[in-house]
Amino acid sequence: MTMQKWIMSGLFFVACALALALMFTLPGKEEVAEEAKPTMPEVTLDAAAAEATLKASCITCHGDQLQGGAGPALQQVGGHMDTNALFSVITKGRKGMPAFKDQLKPDEIANLALYLSEKK
Ligand code: HEC
Repeated sequence: MTMQKWIMSGLFFVACALALALMFTLPGKEEVAEEAKPTMPEVTLDAAAAEATLKASCITCHGDQLQGGAGPALQQVGGHMDTNALFSVITKGRKGMPAFKDQLKPDEIANLALYLSEKK
């Protein structure tokens, strides 16, 4: 082999190694989707716990009967949001709605989502 061929195959090898490294470091499409839409852990509804959490964290904005206030009424929120949508908005927040991922555990948020999804 001539010197040039050696250099060319060397470059080719480096390019392949870089491509492989990128493949493993860049997040896959699924991972990106996962982050945008957090997956809800499975829980069984504990209505008393949900009501306690609502009282502690939510009624200041959503009203003590969930009739609305600074935030929209949640009395029939289950009619237009499913548990995953509820879990997502409580976890991540939206505009005036604060994110609760640092205040509440995923299980607590999932329980709230289940509770609210039955309010239709
Ligand atoms: C600081 C005030 C505030 C607090 C506290 C708050 N929210 Fe909200 N929430 C809002 C506002 C404002 C919106 C409307 C956001 C928008 O316009 O996108 C909202 C929207 C929502 C929605 C979407 C309603 C819909 O019909 O689209 C849900 C569900 C919700 N909040 C649940 C909760 C829960 C559960 C808690 C307690 C863990 C909570 N919120 C605490 C202000 C608040």
